[in-house]
Amino acid sequence: MKLKMMYSFLNTDLQIIEKELEATIESERALLQEASLHLLQAGGKRIRPVFVLLAAKFGHYDIHKIKYVAVALELIHMASLVHDDVIDDAELRRGQPTIKAKWDNRIAMYTGDYIFARSLELMTMVDNIKAHQILSNTIVELSKGEIEQIRDKFNYDQNLRIYFRRIKRKTALLIAASCQLGAVSANAPESVHKSLFRFGYNVGMSFQITDDILDFTGTEEQLGKPAGSDLWQGNITLPVLYAMENPSLNEKIRAIHENSTADEIKEVISLIKGSDAIERSFQLSDRYLNKAFKELEKLPNGIAKRTFNNVAKFIGKRKY
Ligand code: IPE
Ligand code: IPE
Ligand code: MG
Ligand code: MG
Repeated sequence: MKLKMMYSFLNTDLQIIEKELEATIESERALLQEASLHLLQAGGKRIRPVFVLLAAKFGHYDIHKIKYVAVALELIHMASLVHDDVIDDAELRRGQPTIKAKWDNRIAMYTGDYIFARSLELMTMVDNIKAHQILSNTIVELSKGEIEQIRDKFNYDQNLRIYFRRIKRKTALLIAASCQLGAVSANAPESVHKSLFRFGYNVGMSFQITDDILDFTGTEEQLGKPAGSDLWQGNITLPVLYAMENPSLNEKIRAIHENSTADEIKEVISLIKGSDAIERSFQLSDRYLNKAFKELEKLPNGIAKRTFNNVAKFIGKRKY
């Protein structure tokens, strides 16, 4: 089943979210609006707002309240993409030129900050201190994750623990927070927030592992963003760490540095693709997904639970 079909019962509410997203980034400064709108209209899976809505279904669901949280989460995600594309020097995002490519790094810096601040402004509509604490803590962790990624570029002596901590911070916690905040804001019982947080965390870990696999196995056309760029950028991800356990590959991977040629990098990428590292990475992604499914079992049955289950399955097999 296609991703969007899985949550078609939310379509009316998702249209409200899209309108609100557009309205929120409106600005009298044409450039800020133009750059933000460029990224917004390029699309994206909208996984985080969908998770907020699904989680809210476990409490008192009111789209006119929960929409602020859903929009805020997508905006935080978008702001992090704008900044991430500066760090990763990426030219393509959601099938369109990145803001840093279409304008420049300076514009991207402030467009990211602008989108970010708009999301905080929207969150003032949410009258729940716990929600604000969760959100600000998540953003602190996300920043740490991105900084650690910069620090650990081309560091071949990092271990799996460091990788897991980094992806938890930069990706999994925002997805966990989307689930948790949906439930918190809809006044669902505390046991439900906790289960949904753990569900989101495990799905989020799997989500970033599959993103890291797709960087090797996907194409630019499928992904709407450059493929093969992690190694090029010195971002040592799970497939690389697994491949390095093989002594002959270890030596070849370590030889890749900032000034390696395209041919040298391509050769190592194809060696990694041909090794068991990709399959092993999928297995680990599945282990996280299985933990996510176990958390879901604790929740009351219904369409929200079934949809969470389907979206989690999609994430394990996704091609985009
Ligand atoms: C991309 O996130 C960044 C990661 C955390 C891997 P998504 O894959 O959710 O990006 P969009 O929103 O669909 O473009
Ligand atoms: C996720 O990591 C980045 C954020 C937390 C914004 P990536 O660097 O792998 O994301 P992509 O591949 O650029 O989307
Ligand atoms: Mg990136
Ligand atoms: Mg990536």
